[in-house]
Amino acid sequence: MFIPGWALCLSLSWAVGAEAPKREPLTAVMGAMVMEVELLAGQLKDAKEHAFSGVPFITGTLAGRKVVLACSGSGKVHAAMTTTLLLDHFKPAEVLFTGVAGAINPALDRGDIVVAEKIAQHDFGDLTTQGFEPKGPGRAPNGRRPPLFIASPKPLLELAGKAGKGLTFEKVPTATGEHVPAIHHGVIVTGDVFVSSPAKKAELRKQFNADAVEMEGGAVAQICWHQQVPCLVIRSMSDKADASAALDFVSFAEVAAQNSAKLTMAILELLAKPPAPPPKPQ
Ligand code: ADE
Repeated sequence: MFIPGWALCLSLSWAVGAEAPKREPLTAVMGAMVMEVELLAGQLKDAKEHAFSGVPFITGTLAGRKVVLACSGSGKVHAAMTTTLLLDHFKPAEVLFTGVAGAINPALDRGDIVVAEKIAQHDFGDLTTQGFEPKGPGRAPNGRRPPLFIASPKPLLELAGKAGKGLTFEKVPTATGEHVPAIHHGVIVTGDVFVSSPAKKAELRKQFNADAVEMEGGAVAQICWHQQVPCLVIRSMSDKADASAALDFVSFAEVAAQNSAKLTMAILELLAKPPAPPPKPQ
């Protein structure tokens, strides 16, 4: 009997089922570059190394919370591969992605932090004579199609808001004076390209109302969406995605990575706290 491919996909999706798998009380913390992860790895207690398919992971305790740390490498494919291995082998309760990004919102400067309220892949879509039209990633083998914008879960956003209160960041010296970094909640877009172009920056602002652009978060969010694992992407601005982006990246990536790691640590501290007991009946 001939079964068309799409029907096979759909029937498999029913067979796989939509129930979220059981998860461990453990937070996955990911970053793309060594620079983004080593700040956290240096503070790990009871560190233990693991490797799956040649990809290294470190488990331990950070800010009182059990974690698994991973450095994905750059780009969406590396990020997707690392996330899939991580979710399969460690079954974390949630995933935090920390690192640097290019600022798209003109109100943002280097050192500022964007916590993704929602995240989209900006390079997935149709290119026609009319131009580029963004589309969400297509249907996966399990039959499910992620939306163009993947929303971050409310409880993690609220936790990030709480964790950010009272946090202070070192002033960043820029050509226009010292900038005091602040935390924003907004839109992050992801693509396999380092944006160093005022024209692309304007397009990302217009098409997605993007606040920041990076190269991994959308892929991590897509894998987590499929596996129903809460995911939050946190990025600090290393550059403004303009003609000076490559130079700015060299000067500001380190301080940006530190700012993002600082907020991530504060979120882990809150995740480590046991939930408050329910109020006693009167
Ligand atoms: N990560 C940091 N800066 C970036 C940029 N300008 N484009 C894409 N990813 C980035």
